[in-house]
Amino acid sequence: MLTTRPTSLCVGFFLLFLSLPLSTLSQPSMSSDSVYDSFLKCLSEKTKTPQSQIAKIVFSQANPSYTSVLRAYIRNARFNTSSTPKPTIIVTPLSESHVSAAVLCSKPLDFVFKIRSGGHDYDGLSYISDKPFFILDLSNLRDVSVDLADQTAWISAGATLGEVYYRIWEKSKTLGFPAGVCPTVGVGGHLSGAGYGNMLRKFGLTADHFIDAKMVDVNGAVLDRKAMGEDLFWAISGGGGGSFGVVLGYKVKLVPVPATVTVFRVEQLMAAGAVDMVHKWQFVGPKTDKNLFMRMLIQPVTRNKVKTIRATVVALYLGKADDVVSLLAKELPELALKKENCTEMTWFQSALWWDNRVNATQTDPKVFLDRNLDSSSPGKRKSDYVATEIPRSGIVSLFNKMIELGKIGLVFNPYGGRMADIAEDATPFPHRNMLFKIQYSVNWKESSPELEKGYLNQAKVLHSFMTGFVSKNPRGAYLNYRDVDIGVNDHGENSYKEGEVYGRMYFGKNFDRLVKIKTAVDPGNFFRNEQSIPTLPIAKRTGVTERGTAKRWSGAGGATIVASVLLHVF
Ligand code: FDA
Repeated sequence: MLTTRPTSLCVGFFLLFLSLPLSTLSQPSMSSDSVYDSFLKCLSEKTKTPQSQIAKIVFSQANPSYTSVLRAYIRNARFNTSSTPKPTIIVTPLSESHVSAAVLCSKPLDFVFKIRSGGHDYDGLSYISDKPFFILDLSNLRDVSVDLADQTAWISAGATLGEVYYRIWEKSKTLGFPAGVCPTVGVGGHLSGAGYGNMLRKFGLTADHFIDAKMVDVNGAVLDRKAMGEDLFWAISGGGGGSFGVVLGYKVKLVPVPATVTVFRVEQLMAAGAVDMVHKWQFVGPKTDKNLFMRMLIQPVTRNKVKTIRATVVALYLGKADDVVSLLAKELPELALKKENCTEMTWFQSALWWDNRVNATQTDPKVFLDRNLDSSSPGKRKSDYVATEIPRSGIVSLFNKMIELGKIGLVFNPYGGRMADIAEDATPFPHRNMLFKIQYSVNWKESSPELEKGYLNQAKVLHSFMTGFVSKNPRGAYLNYRDVDIGVNDHGENSYKEGEVYGRMYFGKNFDRLVKIKTAVDPGNFFRNEQSIPTLPIAKRTGVTERGTAKRWSGAGGATIVASVLLHVF
């Protein structure tokens, strides 16, 4: 649950000297109308655009389009209710200068500044807060430009993965990009939080393919890799953009894909040997040919009025059907894969197939340009990592537990291959040497609070049940499978300690470097959310070199703030 303690204006504002009384800046006490008016005035001045024009991208709650703009990118219906906290203002920039101005004009206001690209945060952190907040919605910044000559692409934060795949497909049938399998996921959150998809065993994480990036920092400056420096570039390559600035986009290296790939989906019930198949999968999935990614879905189902477990392998093989059938006949005979289970297609069609389009070879590629606005069901996700195979008896007890709980399912995503070749500190993502990742997954249709409570509880109970089987000290979690159950930050005096709890689970030892970078680039903790990287407590900032440059800016209410800014660490 999110906490409800009130925040103070000065919280986290290191070395901040205010030249006006605090009350002048404490904007949440202002009416929404005056916040809107002063924000609009500031935006108009900074962008040198008439207020009537800039008003088209700023939505107060009084605007008739406010609700549709807000709901368009709410991707978890759990946070799409009348009681869900709503932002005071939503800004939908059309250009980089709008983003810079939005940062500068929000800074003097005591509102939490939420950044949203595709809105797929599983716990809604890009569009909810229990404190007064704005949303910066980047969905209009969606350019994707593919350069065939050097096999790269610039992809903007507000683009969806479907748009990225489509734009690559338009230009080349033998290039692809190793990112997530859901086409409506946004680039901004997915890439900055590391990202992975079904080519992970061959090519590693999405973040392993960054060449350059563009972001707006806390001073409103637009920085590329050279200007931001290698530390900050490293941080936004998996550490989550939302702690460091507003990511505008990434330049990425595309990867070669064969002209023909193979997909298959094979199911097994407990009575047909699912226990043995799942047990053996652990020894094969993470070690087999790196062209093969076999995701394992484990779900409670009812068959002939009896509750049981269904284990489903959903796979992508970067090669021909005959080859994968003979490979698995040797390595995983328990799966009993046959050629008729397999379909050969192009890589782009396989992306459609993974999006549950059974007739992928007949599907119009343009469906990937459809953003499916305002469509989602309520759900909850959690994550874990497995470092050593779960014994057969453990699989049996897990299946029995899942039957008892009734709804929650698990997804096992195999690692190995390229993942294990890359150092744990090459990016902020530390879980390179794990055998596989577990996603706990539950979605429901009903809108009953009682049922919701029950489903959320199933997720917690199963997570707790798995303790003996998963990584420890710290227990791992994947940032992009956002889970506020593992800890939240109130950004008060215990911010560092609170941040360490979830931060070590997401980032392991890399948390320390992320904190130093955060302290250097955003010492006032403007870019914060319930699970952002905290700044170092002042007493511990000795390792951070303070350049001491004074920075001055004007608030929307005319307030002037002077802050000493830390420019660099190390
Ligand atoms: P959203 O806009 O909600 O942002 C997520 C977080 O990133 C928030 O904290 C937000 O503030 C921050 N953020 C967003 N844009 C930013 C920007 N421009 N600058 C700075 N910070 C920014 N993951 C995966 O690795 N592989 C997969 O296959 C899938 N599949 C998948 C399917 C579905 C249906 C869902 C709902 C989610 C996934 N995910 C996933 C998880 C997904 O990668 C994760 O939720 C991403 O953070 C989503 O990015 P969005 O931009 O859509 O989310």
